Amino acid sequence: METKVHEIADGIFRLSTYVPEIAPPAGFAFNSFLVRGEEPLLFHTGLRRMFPLNREAVARLIPVDKLRWISFGHFEADESGAMNEWLAAAPDAQVAHGQTGVMVSLNDTADRAPRILADGEVIELGGNKRVRYIDTPHTPHGWDAGVMYEESTGTLLAGDLFTQHGDHPALVHGGDIVTPAIAAEELFQYSALAPGMGSAIRRLAPLKPKTIALMHGPSFAGDGAAALHALADFYEKRAGDRWAELVQSKAA
Ligand SMILES: [Fe+2]
Ligand SMILES: [Fe+2]
Repeated sequence: METKVHEIADGIFRLSTYVPEIAPPAGFAFNSFLVRGEEPLLFHTGLRRMFPLNREAVARLIPVDKLRWISFGHFEADESGAMNEWLAAAPDAQVAHGQTGVMVSLNDTADRAPRILADGEVIELGGNKRVRYIDTPHTPHGWDAGVMYEESTGTLLAGDLFTQHGDHPALVHGGDIVTPAIAAEELFQYSALAPGMGSAIRRLAPLKPKTIALMHGPSFAGDGAAALHALADFYEKRAGDRWAELVQSKAA
């Protein structure tokens, strides 16, 4: 296994590890993103057992002990499993996440006290980089779920939204990221299908992201608002259909 590093927007780097054994024959990739401000931020720690690979990849970009912020979409092995390994490797690093994540999991599981981010709160990383944290509860899964938006580049760090299987180029310009996301939803059935999923995704569209950085898939440079609306349409229909089936089965 190797971890590939590519710059997908100015000062934002994708660290990608492809595992062919997961969901064969296409396989599955795990991506973390380093935002290289004066206070560097890592979005997704990677799996605990992949820490040596990701540490070596981050070391190609910054001295690992200079990492300042650690964040992720939600508390889960691929998103946050190596959190304490990073905290040990970088003495000034702090985990930052939404109120739910900190209260439900991170206050107990993080080896140093985390920072609570309010919905919409910004961390100034210096060097022109600023990341805004946005709550997306149960979207696509996890009560604590959230995304980050880097404002200087218009990059949405979208976590598990738009998940695809397969190995992909670091950055694609245009094209369709919705159809492959629907295929992965059909395969994995990974989303909560909560009634609020569509509106949580649609709420991100006014950001008009220029780039959407997928945790599992390529980074997409194109019409981010259109892609978000299309994904919201899909989940609203899917969740609505499931509720209708349930109501029908109860009435039968
Ligand atoms: Fe996840
Ligand atoms: Fe994930």
